[in-house]
Amino acid sequence: MKRLAILVSGRGSNFEAIARNIREDKLDAEIAAVVANNPEAKALDTARSLGLNAISLPSKGIDSDTYAAQVRDALAPLHIDLICLAGFMRRVGQPLLDAYPQRILNIHPSLLPSFPGLHVQQQALDYGVKWSGCTVHFVDAGVDSGPIVAQAAVPIVEGDTADTLAARILVEEHKIFSEAIAVVLGGKYRIEGRRVVRLTQ
Ligand code: GRF
Repeated sequence: MKRLAILVSGRGSNFEAIARNIREDKLDAEIAAVVANNPEAKALDTARSLGLNAISLPSKGIDSDTYAAQVRDALAPLHIDLICLAGFMRRVGQPLLDAYPQRILNIHPSLLPSFPGLHVQQQALDYGVKWSGCTVHFVDAGVDSGPIVAQAAVPIVEGDTADTLAARILVEEHKIFSEAIAVVLGGKYRIEGRRVVRLTQ
């Protein structure tokens, strides 16, 4: 069974969707650890209530590379196949990227390369785009910049606020993250430059 580590900072609805898909046999994997950089993260309580290995590893006041080394060391004994950033609000430092080359996925609530960074639903509304969505991508040293595994588009409707748009996008996030995880765990793809090419056999 392939083993996931899920990194979270807050609410954890994407983590819950992954856990649900595993429980319902829609995703063949197990969650070996849920790591929160914020000790107050609701996701930690959820992980504990699901009987999962919940690790609180506060990042406050610690630089990205030092923190990444701490996460790497915490995960080392757990034989993790894939790290999933599910609302993880810290930049991933080099020690973790080096330890898990092309084995870290992130979910981002926009159609990248549009609107990387923070407050992206508001950015999409302010820009006046008619469609937004979400993206699952491999994590590299940039911000929301690695090769794209999956995307889903979501329409922007009259009267949308950042909150209503975020909620509509979240529904799709909960689907495509598990789909992308299945693709990567299945191994039937090749990364060609920026492109993640699915292999049929
Ligand atoms: C999601 O919109 C995700 O795309 C972004 O942060 C939010 C986290 O939500 N990176 P949750 O913690 O998974 O509920």
